[in-house]
Amino acid sequence: MLTRVLAGTLLIAGTLYVAFAAVAADQSVRTQAQALFKPLPTAMTSDDNPITPEKVALGRLLFFETRVSIDGTVSCSRCHEPSLYATDALPKPIGAEHRVNPRNSPTVLNAALQISAHWRGDRKNVEDQATKALTGLVSFGNPNFAVAMARLKAIPGYVPLFAKAFPGQADPITPDNWGKAIGAYERTLVTPAPFDAYLKGDDGALSQDAEAGLREFMQLGCTACHNGAGVGGGMYQKFGVVEQYWKATGSKEIDKGRFDVTKNPADTYVFKVPSLRNVAMTPPYFHDGSVATLSEAVRIMARVQLGKTLNDEQVTHIVAFLDSLTGKLPDGFVDVPVLPTAAFAGTPRQPAIGAGAPQSPTAAPPGSGQRK
Ligand code: HEC
Ligand code: HEC
Repeated sequence: MLTRVLAGTLLIAGTLYVAFAAVAADQSVRTQAQALFKPLPTAMTSDDNPITPEKVALGRLLFFETRVSIDGTVSCSRCHEPSLYATDALPKPIGAEHRVNPRNSPTVLNAALQISAHWRGDRKNVEDQATKALTGLVSFGNPNFAVAMARLKAIPGYVPLFAKAFPGQADPITPDNWGKAIGAYERTLVTPAPFDAYLKGDDGALSQDAEAGLREFMQLGCTACHNGAGVGGGMYQKFGVVEQYWKATGSKEIDKGRFDVTKNPADTYVFKVPSLRNVAMTPPYFHDGSVATLSEAVRIMARVQLGKTLNDEQVTHIVAFLDSLTGKLPDGFVDVPVLPTAAFAGTPRQPAIGAGAPQSPTAAPPGSGQRK
């Protein structure tokens, strides 16, 4: 009898101990995580471009607008499709007149959190990015802003919307205001995820695998580069710290990264550390979309950035952690809006069938990669 009671007590004590140990471990991982990451803000505000409902509503329409592009077919949403978590799933997107972009489309979700826009950081912020896309040869393809604005003004329904979003301006339809309206919309695109709930103290938010992956992610040193609210997006780093990246990714072209922007030799193969928010939803991976799956991307990162070979279990755990960064899409994000009516004001250049393709990617002038 006594032995049975004792055994029972030991069993209960044992269970309690195990449960307590699990909670204690949770807390140390969480404390460490709270020091390295931050929950997402509710909106990504900017003093230069305050978010107003009028700008956001207009920006959301403009995001889907194809008629400002040189051939009337390209909108932001073509390469940042809401149904694909604001990417296009292609290694490299296809812009105006079928020109291939030199780099992969990142998502616009949470993008305004980052220090800059684009893989090489060659756009200051989301507003600058949206404005310059108008004349990017491989995006909207307009020869200059005047052509883009003429196309926009040819759609009468936008006149009152710009007037409301930019009150008191005599001629509010400008490239700058196009950037501000779209930028204000983008600044609302925040996707809180299970990981945010975990950081705020919700014990049930992460699966055991995800929590094990978080621990790995911190222990391996991924957090030296991927940290903060974006789990990345805060600094520039060399891709290929211990080994040339293209040997691991199989990249056919070697992109020199920020060197081509700054001409500083120290910036060779340096890229912006991307935010890993929603990364499970945005294949393919890396600046050139050279890697199709997240597990492969994780293995490559450990190998070329940290000189470590991961085992299958480590990869499974880290991928489970990265899954916990998949957030809830903003309300209505995937609903396509009805745009103001008007026919496209330009004349798309059409190749004659069988006559070769004057718009083929090779027809793009040298150096076109610099323009988007
Ligand atoms: C033809 C495809 C295409 C179109 C059209 C396009 N983008 Fe992009 N977008 C890209 C690519 C590719 C990049 C990365 C370019 C680079 O790094 O060189 C990018 C980068 C961005 C980024 C930076 C994301 C980051 O993590 O750095 C934002 C924000 C963005 N685009 C928003 C927009 C908006 C807004 C529009 C419409 C005004 C637009 N894009 C039109 C393909 C496109
Ligand atoms: C020394 C800095 C550094 C470290 C350490 C690092 N990364 Fe990265 N990570 C980067 C950079 C820079 C890129 C962008 C590479 C490129 O140009 O495509 C990147 C890209 C990624 C991507 C692809 C994102 C996308 O949208 O295509 C994933 C996934 C990733 N890292 C995960 C990890 C994991 C997991 C670890 C730890 C095993 C890690 N990283 C360690 C700097 C780092």
